Amino acid sequence: LDSYAVLGQPIMHSKSPRIHRLFAEQTGQHLSYSAEEVAPEEFRAVVADFFANGGKGLNCTVPLKELAWAYAEYTSERARLSKAVNTLSVHTDGKIFGDNTDGVGLITDLKDNHHLQLSGLNVLILGAGGATRGIVAPILAEQPKQLVIANRTVAKAMQLADDFKTEGTLAACGLEQLTNQAFDLIINATSASLSQDLPALPDSVLATNGVCYDLAYANQATPFVQWGHEHGARHSLDGLGMLVEQAAEAFFIWRGVRPDTQPVIELLNAERA
Ligand code: ATR
Repeated sequence: LDSYAVLGQPIMHSKSPRIHRLFAEQTGQHLSYSAEEVAPEEFRAVVADFFANGGKGLNCTVPLKELAWAYAEYTSERARLSKAVNTLSVHTDGKIFGDNTDGVGLITDLKDNHHLQLSGLNVLILGAGGATRGIVAPILAEQPKQLVIANRTVAKAMQLADDFKTEGTLAACGLEQLTNQAFDLIINATSASLSQDLPALPDSVLATNGVCYDLAYANQATPFVQWGHEHGARHSLDGLGMLVEQAAEAFFIWRGVRPDTQPVIELLNAERA
């Protein structure tokens, strides 16, 4: 049986095993998929062991994506740009290939599942950490009218904007500089939701009929999803759809088969309602 796993810390509440097992069932693929709690200092040994024992592929999540990027013997262009890898696989030559499917997962969720085209939109990303690095290039490729990165620590946003300047036009600012602009799409890529917190935002920052999207997901509305509802968002979404879509992309890399994500998203949504 081909074996796969997701590594992270914490990992107990990961939905990835469930998602990949549903994909396997749906597409008639025979595989096993487990979850393993791995601390950063154990990462290299665990991964080497996994592949030495015939493992076929790994997903890596917080806080291991940068380590997975460093581990990979070669990577996709999108992983190289984000300096983060969420999907490792054994290439035909036996070398370990690293990819990052997070950005495409977000774009697919927005476009296919929520019928939101990014071209011509004023887009704001909150946060300038690893999660932001994973989505900037795929968003720029959709040709938004404007992309602004706002971060609590301005210097980090500036650095990130500079790192991605070859990919398109983007601006950087601090959260407190968001007072005189309204955005059609606001993406929360800060880690604030994980601690039930919210970046400090002026009420005016969301345009009329704007959309809010939190990369984090939870069984109940995250503080940012709540903020979106309270500020008249047309949609205020969390990252469950992105989670399923990035998994589908990883599944495709590993198995060469594209699962139908719709029934899986519906099932996971029904389970938390
Ligand atoms: P990740 O890999 O999840 O992006 P990270 O690299 O640690 O994690 O980055 C976390 C991001 O969330 C940062 O942009 C951080 O802002 P700072 O650079 O100013 O630290 C942001 N963040 C975390 N908690 C926040 C909060 N309560 N309010 C605003 N921003 C927050």
